[in-house]
Formats: sequence, structure tokens, C-alpha cells
Amino acid sequence: MGDIHSGHADAAAVYRQLDALMRVPPLCIRRPAMDAYLAYFEEGCPRSRALVEEAKVYIPGGVQHNLAFNYPFPLVIERSEGAYLYDADGHRYIDFLQAGGPTILGGNDPAVRAQVMEMLERVGPSTGLFHEFELKLAREISRHMPAVEMFRMLGSGTEAVMAAIRVARLATGKKKVVKIGGAYHGWSDQVVYSLKIPGTRRFEAHGIPRAATRHTREAAPNDLGSLERVLRANRLAGGTACVLIEPLGPESGTRPVDFSYNAGVRRLCDRFGALLVFDEVVTAFRVGLAGAQGYFGVRPDLTCFGKIVAGGYPSAGGLGGRRDLMMRVAAGIESGKKRAYVGGTMAANPLSAAAGYFTLREIERTGACAKAARAGDRLTKGLQARLTARGLPAPAYNQGSICHLEMVGGMFVKLSLTRILSALHEIKERKALMEEYGAAYMAEGLVTLAGSRMYTSAADTDEVIDDALGRFERVLDAVEPPTARGTVRAPSRGSERHG
Ligand SMILES: Cc1ncc(COP(=O)(O)O)c(C=O)c1O
Repeated sequence: MGDIHSGHADAAAVYRQLDALMRVPPLCIRRPAMDAYLAYFEEGCPRSRALVEEAKVYIPGGVQHNLAFNYPFPLVIERSEGAYLYDADGHRYIDFLQAGGPTILGGNDPAVRAQVMEMLERVGPSTGLFHEFELKLAREISRHMPAVEMFRMLGSGTEAVMAAIRVARLATGKKKVVKIGGAYHGWSDQVVYSLKIPGTRRFEAHGIPRAATRHTREAAPNDLGSLERVLRANRLAGGTACVLIEPLGPESGTRPVDFSYNAGVRRLCDRFGALLVFDEVVTAFRVGLAGAQGYFGVRPDLTCFGKIVAGGYPSAGGLGGRRDLMMRVAAGIESGKKRAYVGGTMAANPLSAAAGYFTLREIERTGACAKAARAGDRLTKGLQARLTARGLPAPAYNQGSICHLEMVGGMFVKLSLTRILSALHEIKERKALMEEYGAAYMAEGLVTLAGSRMYTSAADTDEVIDDALGRFERVLDAVEPPTARGTVRAPSRGSERHG
């Protein structure tokens, strides 16, 4: 099942390539080419620049969304249509950000929009009371994902993860939560732990009390032995409530997993009496209508939803799973048991529920996941050929419509106790280089996620992908091959982003 067309990426081969990338000095874009790319923004994007400058007075950093924080400055987007975005200065871009993943049908899909407009005319954006589309969406999800016997819609993926952990702790009576190093599960206190780089623990937990992450543990990516050791240690300390995983691997498969990994996690959870929680915020309805759980044939106890669950519209989140567990988040006092408190004024508003429902129907009617995955395969194969032809040791790999192009390896810096300071310096330098790649792609008319990830959509025809490959090629032509370089050119700056 599932719509990852070219078969499962060989995780071991990807890790070998990533190791090779990290052994050579960082691959840089030649200075003159980079200067020309920066001139594109300075000279070609005055309206974006002016709006963002003014926004800095009223909005911290000038933008509201981490993904919009692009170097050298964020672009203001005025129109979205299918495979394309248009900025305030009249430029067109191929959209591989796809809003961070939700718009698998392509930007501003007309069929879904028509239904949402109709709903808006009739019901308005919210009433606080029950609407038929809440039922329709829950039934539709359950039809495609048998493990989702019941579904409760929430406001975001972050909220879905919070709810999953709360239910797991309540149902098991245990406290420990195991996540995988490097994985992102939203920004609630307990999971801002070892983000992006395994082993970094509370590196980003500024403003978060130690008590909040006291029961959070991490296991190494794609490593069942590591998970078993953590579960064993937890058993001596009160036990594990749940193992929370991104089924494709941390950061949407940036660190990929072997095909058999998820089944192995399921077995370990059963052995240690922990619930298995799949964070399918990205993968649900992108990998296929049955999600990554359908693709791997593994049944989680709970599933976290976000993004596509509201079809690119706001209030995109939800928790689904086993009936006995989901009754713990029953509204009111239905369950007769202690409940895990969840809520949200805008959760399951008619617009989000209808947008989600019609998006799932459109995905099914048009075969959108398969189309997007084919586009992802074509993009990745095209990039691989171009990288090889230029002797660039940078891996391009994909899981269907989730594509990775690691020119810099910002998330793959190795940490060790003996070289903390130099590792921190290296992380900063590599992140800044990722920003430069992001800027270069943007100047070539390609919007990527943080200069290293591309989401494809059903709107990405062969023509769109071939056009994109020509644009990537121009950036790759401007990269200094590893042997031709003496010292590493200093990048300009660094920052971080998340969807
Ligand atoms: C795997 C994963 N989980 C959770 C989240 C958080 O979702 P949201 O941004 O809707 O809070 C994200 C967001 O990118 C994600 O990628």
C-alpha cells in the first residue's frame, strides 16, 4: 500500500552518503555567484523588502512563521496557484514548500476552495456547536486508516502530540515519553528536546523548566537496540507511557529508517507495555490515504494528525486511535473514566472540517498522493544525476513526495563531549550555508524548505519538475567542487526554521 513509488529508500546507503558529505569541507556556492543571487533580492524585490522592514517594527523578526524566515529577507507572497507562488514584486516561483506540507493537491486547490466558500457563505467560520462535516471527516479518516477507530479534531499538530502524550500517561499510569533524537513533534514543553541533532537534549529548551522535560527520553534514529536500552532503563524508573515516532524517520525522513524499523518499534512497545504513537502530522495523506501506517503495515495505538487533515486551511490537527484510548478525550463526561483534558475554541470549526473532508475526497478522486510521489521521484532522480555528473558528494533522496537535498548537512554535525565548542561552531556555519542555498534556489525561482527539503504536490507535472531541475542545475553549477578549494568561504549568517 501507500504511494512511495520508487520503493523504500535504502536507509543504510543514505547514511553512507551523508557520512561522505560530512567528511569533506562544506560545499559552498562560489562567492561571485552568491553575490549575484543576493543582488536578485536587493534589486529585484523592493516591495517585499519594504514590507518586511516595516513589519519588523510590529512583528518580532518581521514574520509570523518560522518557515517564512528566509535569507537575506523574507519574500511577501501575494498569490498561490497549483505548483506556483507569486511574490509582491511580480516574480513566479515553483512552490516546493507547499506551506510546510499541507497542500498535497497543489496551492489553493479550486475544488476544495469552492466547497469552503460555500460553507463560509452558509455557516460562517465558526459556531462552537457540532457540524456534520466533523462526522464526515472522522468517518473518512477511519475508512482509510483502520487503526483510527475514533478521531478528535484539534487546532494543530503540536496540540495533537500534547493530547497523545496526555492520553498515554493517563491510560498506562506511566510517565516516561520516548522520542527519537532529531525528531520534531511541535513546540510543547515536553518535546522541545533533542531537536534536529540527536543528543542535543535541552539545547533549544530556553524558557522551559527542567521539570517539563524530566520524563522525556531519546533513542537514536533507526536503531532498535538503542530504543530497547531506553525502554529497559525506563522500566526501572516507573515505565514508558509511549514511544512517539515520525514513521519515516526524524524530520520527515531526513534521517530515514529501514522498512522493518516501525514493525520493530511496535514489537518493543508491546514487550514493554508502552503505547505506540505515530506522529503522522506530515505523512498522513501525503504518503498515501492510509498514511505511513498503511505503507509500513504497522498499527499504532494513537496517531497525531496536522497539516493535510485540514487541507491547507487553518486549525489543522487531531488525534485518532483505539476506541478505548480515544474515549479518554471524550468531550463532556461520556467515558465515565478520568479524562485527558483537551480543548480549543476553533478546533473542528466547520471550515477546517469541511476543507479536510473535501481534500481527502479530492486526493482519492485524483490519485493525488501517487501523482505527487511520481513528481518527487522524478525530481530526486534528476538531482541525483546532476550531482553525480558534477562530482558533488551531496545526497538527494526521497520518500515519495518528501524530497531531501543535503548540500550542507547542517543536521548531521557529530556531537561529542570532547568537541562541543567546535561542533557548535560547525553547526552555526553549516546552518548559515543552508540559508545561502535557500536564497540561491529562491533567486532561481524555487521555494524550498530551509534550503534542503522539497515537498512535491499533485500539481507538479513532468514539465514543472523538468523546469525545476534546470533551475537547480544552475545553482549546482555555481558550487565549488570539493577538490578545487583550499579554505572554506565564511558564510554570512544563520537561523532556524520549523513547520
Ligand atoms: C512531524 C511533525 N509533528 C508535529 C508538528 C507540529 O505541527 P503544527 O505545526 O501544526 O503544530 C510538525 C510541524 O511541522 C511536524 O512536522
